[in-house]
Amino acid sequence: MQCYQCLARISSSLTMEEINPSYILSEEYRPKHVITEGEGIPLIDLTPITNREMSAGSDNKAVEELAAKIGEACRTWGFFTVINHGVPSDIRRRIMEASRKFFALPLEEKKKVSREAHNTAGFHNDEHSKDFKDWKEVYDFYVNDGMLMPASHEPDDPEIVPWYTPWPENLSKFRETCEEYGRACEKLFFNLLELVSLSLGLPPKRLHGYFENQASFARLNYYAPCPKPDLVLGTGGHRDPSALTVLAQEDVEGLDVLRKSDGAWVRVKPVPDSFVINVGDVLQVWSNDIYESVEHRAMVHAETERYSIPIFFHPSHDITMKPLDELVDERSPAKYPEYKAGKWLNLRMFNNYKKHGFYMRMT
Ligand code: SIN
Ligand code: FE2
Repeated sequence: MQCYQCLARISSSLTMEEINPSYILSEEYRPKHVITEGEGIPLIDLTPITNREMSAGSDNKAVEELAAKIGEACRTWGFFTVINHGVPSDIRRRIMEASRKFFALPLEEKKKVSREAHNTAGFHNDEHSKDFKDWKEVYDFYVNDGMLMPASHEPDDPEIVPWYTPWPENLSKFRETCEEYGRACEKLFFNLLELVSLSLGLPPKRLHGYFENQASFARLNYYAPCPKPDLVLGTGGHRDPSALTVLAQEDVEGLDVLRKSDGAWVRVKPVPDSFVINVGDVLQVWSNDIYESVEHRAMVHAETERYSIPIFFHPSHDITMKPLDELVDERSPAKYPEYKAGKWLNLRMFNNYKKHGFYMRMT
C-alpha cells in the first residue's frame, strides 16, 4: 500500500508541485457547500433478484417490490447504492489491486497504452469537464473487447476505425482481471435492466436486445492527492451518456450528486462492498424523461489518493435510440428524435476532441 502510494506519486502526471492553471475551476464550479450528513441516495438490497438465480423458485412479488423501489430511486435521485448485488468481492478486490498497479507504473509505460483519436479505450490524463482539466488519470477498457463494431460516424467519415482496447503488456493478469470484472458486473447490469424495465411497466427483458453488441466500457479512475483540493475537481460536473452506470468506490469518499429536489450537492457515503448505480442519458431518452440522467462530480483530497471504477453500460452502436413506443402517447409525446446510439456516443465523447483533447460534454 505504502509503496504503491509513493510510486504513484512519483510516476503520476499529477504532482504535488504547483498546479497548472488549466486545472483551476472558476469560482462557480468549485466544490464547496457540499452536504455530507443526513440521508443521502437510497440504499437498495438486491437479494430478491440475486437469490433468484440460486434458488429454483422465484419470488415474483419480492422482485416486483424491488422494481418499485428502483423506480422510485430513479425518479427521485437518478442515483442509488446497491448491496447483495451478486458481484463477488474477490474480483472487485483484485481489480482495485490491478488498478493500483497500473497507475503506479512510470508515466512513459502508461503512455504506451494511450487512448487514440476516436477510440475511447486506453490511458489518458487530459479529460476536461466544463473547459477545465480534471485532476485524474484514467484507463478505459471495453467490456466487449474485440467484438465491437466501429461506432457509426457520418456514413463516409474517413476517420472511422474499429474500437479496441490497448492492453498493457507487462502487468501480470491485468487483462484477465479486467475482463473477469466486466463479466461479473454485466450480470449485475442485466438484473438492474430487468428491474428498470419492470419499474416502467415493461416486460422484464424489454431492453436486453439493445445490448447484444454492447459498446459498454469500464474506467479505472485514479485521483492523486492534490495540494489545492478546493480549486479543482477530479471529475467535473457532468451527466453520463450511458444507459446505466455501475460504479465501485472504496472507502475514500469523493462522489457528489446534484439533488433533484433542491439542486444541492450531496456527498455519496461509501458503503463497503456496494455499487453506486446511476441513470444515464440513454435511459433518460428511452423513458422519455420519466427517469433523468443526473449531474455528478468527484472531488479530490489533499493527502489521500482515491480510486474508483465506473462501468458505463452502452447499447450497441447500431441501434436507434428513441423514447420507447410504450411510454409515448398524445399526453406524453416523444421528447427526443431518433438517433443512432453509436453516433450519439461519439458526439458525447469526441465532439470537442480537436479543441480540448478528450472531453466529457458539459451539462
Ligand atoms: C465519474 O462520474 O465518472 C466518476 C465518479 C467517481 O469517481 O466517483
Ligand atoms: Fe459519471
